[in-house]
Formats: sequence, structure tokens, C-alpha cells
Amino acid sequence: MKSEAIWKDVEEYINRKVVKQSAFQSEVLDISEKEGLPPINVQPPEGKLFSIIARSINAKRALEIGVLGGFSGLWILSGMENGTLIGLEKSEKHARIAKENFVKAGYGNNATIMVGDALSSLNHLIEDKAEPFDIILIDADKPPYLEYFKKSIALSHSGTIIFVDNMVWNGDIANRNDKSESSQGIRKLYDQLELDERVVGTVIQTVGTKGYDGFAVLRVS
Ligand code: DHB
Ligand code: MG
Repeated sequence: MKSEAIWKDVEEYINRKVVKQSAFQSEVLDISEKEGLPPINVQPPEGKLFSIIARSINAKRALEIGVLGGFSGLWILSGMENGTLIGLEKSEKHARIAKENFVKAGYGNNATIMVGDALSSLNHLIEDKAEPFDIILIDADKPPYLEYFKKSIALSHSGTIIFVDNMVWNGDIANRNDKSESSQGIRKLYDQLELDERVVGTVIQTVGTKGYDGFAVLRVS
């Protein structure tokens, strides 16, 4: 079993050689740290995948549930050609920082943040018959993951790609003794995916600077 130290070294090597995030994306991580945001951004190799997939499906409309400082949103925006991102964020402070970062990166006209409870914002989007999204990232609080998924399906079209972060949660999802609300929330989504014929999906396990986790890639049929 390799130690966590080598996961970090390898991630840094991968980031330097292949992921090659922009100087501004690195700055966003610095800004987020200075502003006291929790260090729970997606890892750059995962963010780069969002960008590649957004480009591959010619995404024009993206939805992000849980924006934090905008790091993952920037990856998604970077993959779209003049696409728009709607971000849902509970914290006013996070939303302000993310908006500033989007503006600084030149996406001021491409990104909108709806501040407030994500389930209410999702309900508003559904009631307002928002045009379906091409790419969706679920990366907010874990207990309502199943609800976020169901609302995301309602805002999708055939071919929409839904990414779901934190689907391994340090392995706790497969540990029956772990009864935390977060693990239970993530497991409820697994139970839905077991039966749901509307999506074709996979979960990729990851290691790196944030330890052991993983993310789902789901394609709406
Ligand atoms: C946490 C949340 C995340 O979205 C993540 O990627 C890692 C950790 C958390 O709430 O601890
Ligand atoms: Mg996450």
C-alpha cells in the first residue's frame, strides 16, 4: 500500500505535466485559501476532465450545485465556447468570491450565481421551465445528494452529463458502520443509481492531495 505522501507527489507531477491549469486558476486556489474557504475544491485532474467533457459534448449550458470559490466552475467554463454557467451557492461569501473570480477570468457575462438553498433554486429553475443543461456538477452538501440528482434529471436532456463529486467519501460509503448523514446521503444516491434506468454511469475512485475519494460520471439516456 503506497502512502498518501506519494499520492500528493504524483498529483503534483500530473498537474505539472498534463493538467497545466492556468495561472489564474492557481490564483483562485490562493484567493480561496486567503479568504478562509474550506480546502475542498475539486482536484485539478478532475476539473480538467470537466473541461474536456464540456468541450467534447459542445456544452453551452452548465449547472453547478455548490460553487465554493468558483474553481470547478472555471474548469467547466473553460471547456465551453461562449457557454453559460448557473451556479447554486448557499453562502453569500462564497458566492461573492466566486463571482469576483469569474469576472476576473473574463466570464463576467457567462456566469450567474443563485445565492440560497440549492433545492429551492433548483425548484425555481424547474418551475420556470429553464432550458435543460448540457453538463451538471453536483458538489454541495451530501445529505440531499439524492434530491440534487432527481432535480438534475428534471433539468437534463438526453445526453446531459452529470458529474457527482465525493462518491467514495474516503471509502466510508462501503463501510456499514459509518452512519454519518453525509455517507447515508451519498448511499441513497447509490441506491437510486442501482435501479435508475434513465442514466448510464460509472464511479471513478481517486487519490491525491485531497486523500481518497471518487466521482460519478452519469450520462442521461
Ligand atoms: C467536503 C466536501 C466536498 O465537496 C469535498 O470535495 C470534500 C470535502 C466536506 O464537506 O468535507
Ligand atoms: Mg466535492
